[in-house]
Amino acid sequence: MIRINEDYLKLHASYLFADIARRVGAYQLANPGVEIIKMGIGDVTEPLPNACREAFHGAIDDMGQRETFHGYGPEQGYPFLRDAIAEHDFQRRGVDLSPEEIFISDGSKCDCGNIQEIFAKDITVAVPDPVYPVYVDTNVMAGRTGSCIDGRYENLVYLESTPENGYMPSLPEQPVDLIYLCFPNNPTGAIATVEQLRQWVDYARENGAVILFDAAYESFIRDDSVPHSIFEIEGARETAIEFRSFSKNAGFTGTRCAFTVVPRELTVRDSGGIEQSLHSLWSRRQSTKFNGVSYPVQRAAAAVYTPQGQQEVAALTDYYLGNARIIREKITPLGYDCAGGENSPFIWINTGGDSWEFFDLLLTKAGVVCTPGVGFGNCGQGHIRLSAFNTRERITEALERITSVL
Ligand code: MLT
Repeated sequence: MIRINEDYLKLHASYLFADIARRVGAYQLANPGVEIIKMGIGDVTEPLPNACREAFHGAIDDMGQRETFHGYGPEQGYPFLRDAIAEHDFQRRGVDLSPEEIFISDGSKCDCGNIQEIFAKDITVAVPDPVYPVYVDTNVMAGRTGSCIDGRYENLVYLESTPENGYMPSLPEQPVDLIYLCFPNNPTGAIATVEQLRQWVDYARENGAVILFDAAYESFIRDDSVPHSIFEIEGARETAIEFRSFSKNAGFTGTRCAFTVVPRELTVRDSGGIEQSLHSLWSRRQSTKFNGVSYPVQRAAAAVYTPQGQQEVAALTDYYLGNARIIREKITPLGYDCAGGENSPFIWINTGGDSWEFFDLLLTKAGVVCTPGVGFGNCGQGHIRLSAFNTRERITEALERITSVL
């Protein structure tokens, strides 16, 4: 008789952002007159850059002519996009990386979630706490954890990010095989210095571990000393995989395009002690389970790297960073410590108390949606996350409402 994958039964009933959407939907239904301002999920509000929109249109016209029509594309992405990424995002920052090491995809969420398939089931996985829930849930689904007890899954190693350590997790005290890192961090907004990243890379090299480095918010870095890529750290090519996205810099949350970098040097031993290339395994996985991102979307993404695209993307991220500054400036005088919001679109606020209660307070008294910190892990208790992804007008209005409630 057919049976289900019972690892799914270990998951929380719903995904964090689905849970929030359900609660907000129920509140809106009961209070149709309230104009709710969403500062919860990090979804962009500003339209696509003109450079991307024009490239998108042009590519759709290509699809309408037999001579320029495109059917299945290469699963790993078109060379025009991989070349542009390699040059602009890496080589120009002194990172030696070839276009063949870049895999274009339809989202970092999918890539962060799928990548664990290429590792053994019985490895030890370390995740920060608080953490983007996708890293945890996909390992639960894959059967790498036991049950969830008091908010933590058995067999996962949690790396705590707290006010005491400036939301910068320490190296694990026990050996781990796979380490998820995210900088600028979601949800805390923390950034990692070269020295801090070097410690992780050194740890991974010494312990035969692999780092999964989520750099989806890289374009919000304004501090020149902060590394944009883990590959700016010596030795990272032998230990790390990096995830990047067009969602937050170019507003592609609804358009869908991202990429993952798997260096050719990165190898992991199989049970017979033979070194296996993770680049080959990921390539094999993608060519079997994925048919590539559509040609027009890749053309639109490539336009990010034109001079006009670069200017427009900088203006977009500056706009959201301006919102983040307003949030910090208004929340701090209310007596709450804020992290993030400087090289990050997320502001992590230490509210004390129960974070779902604070979520309810903001929703019911101010009509503002935040993300309760505990939804990202036990260390998120006593915190909420506000996202700067909204219009300036709505952010300003939300902060006025919050100020009058608190
Ligand atoms: C978030 O709000 O944490 C992100 O928007 C989630 C995502 O990008 O999937």
